[in-house]
Amino acid sequence: MSIQAPTIKHVIPVASGKGGVGKSTVSANLALALQRAGATVGLMDADVYGPSLPTILGISEGPQVTEARRIIPVAQHGLKVISMGFFMKPDEAVIWRGPMLHKTMEQFLGNVEWGELEYLLIDLPPGTGDVQLSLCQIIPITGAVIVSTPQDVALNVAQKAIAMFKKLNAPILGIIENMSVYVCPHCGKREDIFGSGGARKTAERLGIPFLGEVPLETVIRETSDAGTPVVLSQPDSPAAKAFIAVAERLAAQVNLRATQGETTPPVKVTF
Ligand SMILES: Nc1ncnc2c1ncn2[C@@H]1O[C@H](COP(=O)(O)OP(=O)(O)OP(=O)(O)O)[C@@H](O)[C@H]1O
Ligand SMILES: [Mg+2]
Repeated sequence: MSIQAPTIKHVIPVASGKGGVGKSTVSANLALALQRAGATVGLMDADVYGPSLPTILGISEGPQVTEARRIIPVAQHGLKVISMGFFMKPDEAVIWRGPMLHKTMEQFLGNVEWGELEYLLIDLPPGTGDVQLSLCQIIPITGAVIVSTPQDVALNVAQKAIAMFKKLNAPILGIIENMSVYVCPHCGKREDIFGSGGARKTAERLGIPFLGEVPLETVIRETSDAGTPVVLSQPDSPAAKAFIAVAERLAAQVNLRATQGETTPPVKVTF
């Protein structure tokens, strides 16, 4: 029996080459910023190796499963969320080959009651591996968002992620520079700890949109650790405003692609 599946308008994976550059932090805050603007947003934690969205969003209870074994995503802060973290103990590790990862991505997309969504943001593991490949094979992607810190080592690897999506015929919606300028909360001095402006230059050189800079700020880490990302808990702070500005540019890129006729059809996932 085939099950009538939800309609998802825009599928947007958040990717990076290097680990630890802020994909999960960016995914959560962008999802909340899009939702603040009135959109219905789902957030899928596809980082099966190190799922961190349950912590960042302060989720302690797993999803309900219906009699028909369909998974109801967890509703948190107005978002619909699914994560591998819901299905494993904290000290367990996922040691899977490609086919298992592929199956899990299929389940997360096809066996979850997402309902009608404007955006499904997908927090990816770092790099260019099986999860990224499976995702692009399973579902038409509106466009990927690439997160990078400003320094060359991160940007060089970010280019590999960009090259991968291009090879898989998935568009790139743009690149975000995270952990950009640091402003000392005590003296106001600005410091470019990881450099600054590198992602903008890379975007220009590669001919992809630059979606903006997010500063390196303690409040971003603290609010994520507390389960209430900064866009939710301190929406008027400079850090939250930076995320909101990035979300606006992201939505503009999605609309621009639509007006240029480069739409991906709404996705109906059935298995
Ligand atoms: N702009 C920022 N300012 C301060 N801290 C940040 C910022 N962005 C991310 N962090 C912190 O840096 C750490 C790594 O961020 P995060 O987990 O989002 O990265 P990631 O790219 O998802 O990592 P992984 O590759 O392991 O999935 C976290 O502790 C997070 O709170
Ligand atoms: Mg992460």
